[in-house]
Amino acid sequence: MSAKVAKKKTAATKQSSKKRRPKKKKSAKSESYANLVAQLRSLLKDEYNFIANTANFSSLVYNALPDVNWAGFYLLQDHELILGPFQGKPACVRIPVGKGVCGFAAKQCETVIVPDVSEFPGHIACDPESKSEIVIPLFDGERVLGVLDVDSTSLARFDDQDAEGLNELVTVLVAHEEGLDE
Ligand code: SME
Repeated sequence: MSAKVAKKKTAATKQSSKKRRPKKKKSAKSESYANLVAQLRSLLKDEYNFIANTANFSSLVYNALPDVNWAGFYLLQDHELILGPFQGKPACVRIPVGKGVCGFAAKQCETVIVPDVSEFPGHIACDPESKSEIVIPLFDGERVLGVLDVDSTSLARFDDQDAEGLNELVTVLVAHEEGLDE
């Protein structure tokens, strides 16, 4: 049996530990996203119905992330984003590409973090309580399929770690739908 023994640091061990490359410590946030990815994989297992999977995805994100009042999908159809499965209050149904934060993210093909929605020109206020949001496009190769939108009643709720974690989650979802994770 092996046991870990905490050694008292001497000048010599201090010196040698200085030289060692420090292990990159995962933040609590990135650990919780890793946990969500594992939960998502288990929810998706053997199920390929897009509506069912995006519905469960929305519920997972809405219920697991703190301080979130809306989480769901807008799916691209004929230059419009149309409301898909979501959790939260009822929302606007159609968003033209280029309009609002969702339409902007779909047009630019990039993740958009809005710390204060009142400062985003053209923001579409489905719920006046929402103060900040993040929108992640879903890609099939280069083609945009739609976006994931997550809102919060707090200002500046989302950061780069949320962008990274949510991007990983949507990548897992799309790869699964395309049968690329088998
Ligand atoms: N705020 C979004 C509209 C969708 S709702 O927030 C659910 C936007 O500006 O595109």
